[in-house]
Amino acid sequence: MHKISIIGAGNIGSTIAYLLTNKQLVKEIVLLDILEGIPQGKALDILESTPIELSDTKIIGTNDYINTSSSDIIIITAGLTRKPGMSRNDLLFTNVEIVKSVTEKIVTFSPQSIILMVSNPLDVMAYVALKVSSFERHRVIGMAGVLDSARFRLFIANELNVSVNDVHTLVLGGHGDSMVPLLNYTSVNGIPIKEMLPLPKINKLIERTRNGGIEIVNYLRTGSAYYAPAASTLEMIESIIKNQNKILPCSVWLEGEYGLADTFCGVPVKLGRNGVEEIIILNLSDDELESLHKSASEVKENIKALNGKL
Ligand code: APR
Repeated sequence: MHKISIIGAGNIGSTIAYLLTNKQLVKEIVLLDILEGIPQGKALDILESTPIELSDTKIIGTNDYINTSSSDIIIITAGLTRKPGMSRNDLLFTNVEIVKSVTEKIVTFSPQSIILMVSNPLDVMAYVALKVSSFERHRVIGMAGVLDSARFRLFIANELNVSVNDVHTLVLGGHGDSMVPLLNYTSVNGIPIKEMLPLPKINKLIERTRNGGIEIVNYLRTGSAYYAPAASTLEMIESIIKNQNKILPCSVWLEGEYGLADTFCGVPVKLGRNGVEEIIILNLSDDELESLHKSASEVKENIKALNGKL
């Protein structure tokens, strides 16, 4: 793998571009946006950091999809973030149009690529990309669970005053209020979280995790989170490029796994050279399974609302 294109040179797209350039994972990065000058300026700025970071990766900014030709991975971060006065549906329908048009270009210029979706509402946008591209399901993957899990890990580590490195967890489900943190798979260096913290305290941390995105929006006011979303996307890219087969919670198209079908939903997957190498099936409790189904049904409702738009 040698080429990655990032569609959308906004906060998340350009942060991914910066991190990726200086990690030297690929030879060539293309940053594309509809705004003229923005991707060119940001790419040049990032390129000028490479002598200091000692990176040989090349990055260019463009408005023309021809430059993205034959990319191995395409990251979609194009779209609007929610603004005051906008309903979720306004965002849904605007971003559907954007993601649809972006995906059509991807099919033309990089038909063999793996698509990583970052635009929101995440699970529905991943569906749009899958449907419009007709790619096999292992090549269309949504980034959400890694971010939600990172937030939960941080809050646990802060609460216990331990290293974030020691905290492991899996947050599944759709990327929204109904996400499903799995307590039975949450531990601090192998010690179950339930032995480290009382349940009411854990529930508070879960609540903060669910509202992790909103907490940042309330501070920023004019945008949403981008450093942690970019870092999360990087972890997924690295696992694919290096064929690491890391097990990460990602949004994928389900065909009967966990009793769910015809929807995107966050579940643990092995990420490697082919994208999703395997969907890991966990032995969930009845409660966890019920929460997962509830979360998935919300995604399904939104997918249904797209009727006729694709
Ligand atoms: N093609 C290419 N780029 C586009 C298009 C398009 N059709 N439409 C919009 N864009 C670009 C915008 O010009 C902007 O530069 O997408 C970029 C979005 O950047 P930001 O507004 O900074 O948003 P960001 O914080 O990066 O989030 C992007 O990811 O997490 C989600 O909710 C978030 O949907 C949002 C997306």
